[in-house]
Amino acid sequence: MTDISKTYYVTTPIYYVNGDPHLGHVYSTVAADVIARYKRLAGYNVYFLTGTDEHGQKVAQTADAMGVTPQEVTDRFSQAFRDVLPKFHITNNDFIRTTDNRHKETCQYFWKKLEEAGAIYLDKYSGWYAVRDEAYYGEDELQDGPDPETKIAPSGAECKWVEEESYFFRLSDYQNKLLAYYQENPDFIGPKSSASEITSFVKAGLKDLSISRTTFNWGVPVPNNPDHVMYVWIDALTNYISALGYGSEDDELFQKFWPADVHIVGKEITRFHTVYWPAFLMAANIALPKKVFANGWWVVEGEKMSKSLGNVITPDSLLQSYGVDGTRYALLREMPFGNDGNFAHDNAVNRINGDLANGLGNLAQRSLSMIAKNAEGQIPLPSSFTEADRQLLNMAYDLPSQTEPFINAVQIHKYLEMVWSVINEANAYIDLQAPWKLKKENPERMQTVLYVLAEVIRCVAIMAQPIIPVGAGKILDQLVIGHEARVFENLDNEHALKPGIVLPAPQGVFPRLELNKDEAAA
Ligand code: MSP
Repeated sequence: MTDISKTYYVTTPIYYVNGDPHLGHVYSTVAADVIARYKRLAGYNVYFLTGTDEHGQKVAQTADAMGVTPQEVTDRFSQAFRDVLPKFHITNNDFIRTTDNRHKETCQYFWKKLEEAGAIYLDKYSGWYAVRDEAYYGEDELQDGPDPETKIAPSGAECKWVEEESYFFRLSDYQNKLLAYYQENPDFIGPKSSASEITSFVKAGLKDLSISRTTFNWGVPVPNNPDHVMYVWIDALTNYISALGYGSEDDELFQKFWPADVHIVGKEITRFHTVYWPAFLMAANIALPKKVFANGWWVVEGEKMSKSLGNVITPDSLLQSYGVDGTRYALLREMPFGNDGNFAHDNAVNRINGDLANGLGNLAQRSLSMIAKNAEGQIPLPSSFTEADRQLLNMAYDLPSQTEPFINAVQIHKYLEMVWSVINEANAYIDLQAPWKLKKENPERMQTVLYVLAEVIRCVAIMAQPIIPVGAGKILDQLVIGHEARVFENLDNEHALKPGIVLPAPQGVFPRLELNKDEAAA
């Protein structure tokens, strides 16, 4: 049962609306969805937020290039991101747009809080700015560009010199406070490689941060100075609290769910989330998120995804090639969460065939067919359990306690590995116990073996729901498990399958994919 005092708040980055969604965006969203679903099934009251980041120069320039207004561009692409969610069975509780009024109001309230705290002052900014990254860079971080007006950021983005009046945030005041916070909260930044990178960055010294722009107006106006719009990152980061109603009349969600348990972010935006965001929050006297975890980047068949190479993998092509479960599984199983990796079609197909079709699919299909044929299509009546039976059942019952630390540490791939290790054990158990032989030799023992298998399938299907919600749901339907019973606390003896329950005719759940992409998509 959900314990309302046990809350959990997980977020994705909010996506820029200067282009269509692709595999990289699906990845962050699916990862956060797995965590959200896991925690719900573990009894938490979960809030899961995603959305779109709609202001700033990058979006304004995209609108210009397309010959439409920024609002038109944001409406169109925001909708494109929103449309992806149901296709992958994403269970977000809310979708925040930074052009929502509720968001703009919170931004202005937050700004005033920072001002009241004396953390903001007006001055003049001159320095290098990369529109692609929406980021300011120090001279020492840059390389010479093709002409004297241009420099190149470490990310490869072009930087131009800007000079304008700007509000500044006193980031330099927070160097020691941030370092102390990282030290006292060693799990605040993950993975470890990101934590050390950020710590060195902060140790090298922090300059005050320019947080407003005057040369365009596509942004949240700075309170009491309409010549300025807020720098897109202060606006964007505030989404995590504006969606909860921070600073509004109804801040019940904020009271309940803040601080966030985990922000899932891409590795390239860790600095914004682990330096700027906590410093803003400290200044406004708001609690800090408990964890920021950076996912790595996918390349595709060894190449960086890019429009010019024509190798951008769209959400629809993922669905067509691998389906909902296949995509979710392949994305999370192919590379350790936090690392970079290569998305290769053949590997994804082999993974899906090996682990879904042959692994879980075969386990369910073999076991349920034998039950249909040899146990009158009912949950069999077990007699006494052997050591092997007990061992397998206990492995299954231990899955919630064994996997939760992995979810807490955002080691999603380890959670998958652990669930599949039980599936593999169960497949090995069938081969060893050979129930088809027992049919004549020892029918009573056969019933016990089939019972153990059905019970283990119940457990692994419950555990696999966050990852492969469609197929896991179908398996649980075939075991006639009610929806409210598909929760982790039911992985025990007390909730074990009741003998005699009549099962529907078994059906295959995970089709095998063809290696040839055209055939798979056909
Ligand atoms: N708008 C900012 C985030 C603001 S959060 C307050 C932004 N948006 S983005 O659309 O450019 O990227 C969002 C996320 O997409 C990245 O952080 C990253 O997690 C994910 N990815 C985009 N391309 C990716 C890959 N090729 N591989 C994996 N994930 C990548 O940054």
